[in-house]
Amino acid sequence: VHSHLEENIRPFIDLIDTLRSVGIQKDLALPTIAVIGDQSSGKSSVLEALSGVALPRGSGIVTRCPLELRLKKVTGGVKWKAVLSYRKKDSAFVAGPIKPSKLANGNVPHPTYDVKKFEFGDPSLVEEYVTAAQNELAGKGVGICDELITLEVMSPDVCDLTLIDLPGIARVPVKGQPQDIGNQIKNLIMKFIEKQETINLVVVPCNTDIATTEALKMAQEVDHDGRRTVAILTKPDLIDKGTEKDILAIVHNKVIPLHKGYTMVKCRGQQQIDNNIPLEEATQIERDFFQNHDHFRDLLNEDKATIKCLAVKLTQNLVDHIKKSLPQLNQQIKKKLWDVKNELKEYETGPPEDLKGAKQFLTETLKRFNDQINSLSSGEQMSEENL
Ligand code: GDP
Ligand code: NA
Ligand code: MG
Repeated sequence: VHSHLEENIRPFIDLIDTLRSVGIQKDLALPTIAVIGDQSSGKSSVLEALSGVALPRGSGIVTRCPLELRLKKVTGGVKWKAVLSYRKKDSAFVAGPIKPSKLANGNVPHPTYDVKKFEFGDPSLVEEYVTAAQNELAGKGVGICDELITLEVMSPDVCDLTLIDLPGIARVPVKGQPQDIGNQIKNLIMKFIEKQETINLVVVPCNTDIATTEALKMAQEVDHDGRRTVAILTKPDLIDKGTEKDILAIVHNKVIPLHKGYTMVKCRGQQQIDNNIPLEEATQIERDFFQNHDHFRDLLNEDKATIKCLAVKLTQNLVDHIKKSLPQLNQQIKKKLWDVKNELKEYETGPPEDLKGAKQFLTETLKRFNDQINSLSSGEQMSEENL
């Protein structure tokens, strides 16, 4: 199954990644997979198991900026390699006293960015680099930020997937966090999951009341029949005895029906992490867990369990989604091009030949110049909204 998939998906995923790398997502919504869930629901564990990349993890708010994980399977003796990049708004542009003058069509010009880029070949450095980037964008501490950090991982051992890790949903602010941190995080998550082009990966622990999960509710709010929602049930090894039948009913889509259904995975528990159980071994442990489970064994044959099964499903989902979005993307690009061409025209026209027209042109140009000087000297500070 896997090799067949690989042949067919790469061009689509590459196309989207290329568009994203030139910053087009500022203007267009590109198809992607976003991971959402409560804090400590197992988001990082799932991402880690899917990617083989050890991400920052912990009990508090660890993911403070959206982190885009681009996985690329490479062959031909290439070893593990990663490139971390992010854009920081050009400090001169952010802090300077000069308000960018409006373009002739009334639009405000785009801000400029410092692009930061780091390349490294040691997987154990991921955590350090991601944390440093987060500190630079969101400040040291417990704040959050909307700017995207991109981590591209090239390795023979990953599957072709692009995932976005988002801060976990938290209700109670911790020391140093603003009172409305819960809403800030929800708003940030909403920005990603409300886009029709996003596949929402909702991570829910088996040992909670699944039906009342906030993340699932948010996903339902933006995707009523669950056409782009994939639910993942984590921590099946931690459930209370006697709840297995209820959980199976959920996995079998009988409680909260989702078009794309549920997958159950068992990741490394805290103890297995502390004992440095490698991911490959964890994969075997996961398989054994399901094979020996009295109630969940059948999920293996039904393609509803294990990380491996999830990876294949996600890849196929992403490709289907990209294929479906392409015509729409094409339309959006054409519209943008049209707008830009019109904008360009305004700059192309010089003074008309006749004296009257030329005078009028000069007056208008002077007036526009005067307006710009006025807005500059009014001392207005640039605000985020203006950018
Ligand atoms: P996040 O905050 O959503 O990113 O959650 P983490 O991935 O950091 O996981 C929180 C805790 O749950 C960690 O200690 C993980 O080891 C543990 N955990 C995650 N998945 C499982 C699982 O399937 N079984 C067990 N026993 N523990 C898990
Ligand atoms: Na956590
Ligand atoms: Mg996490």
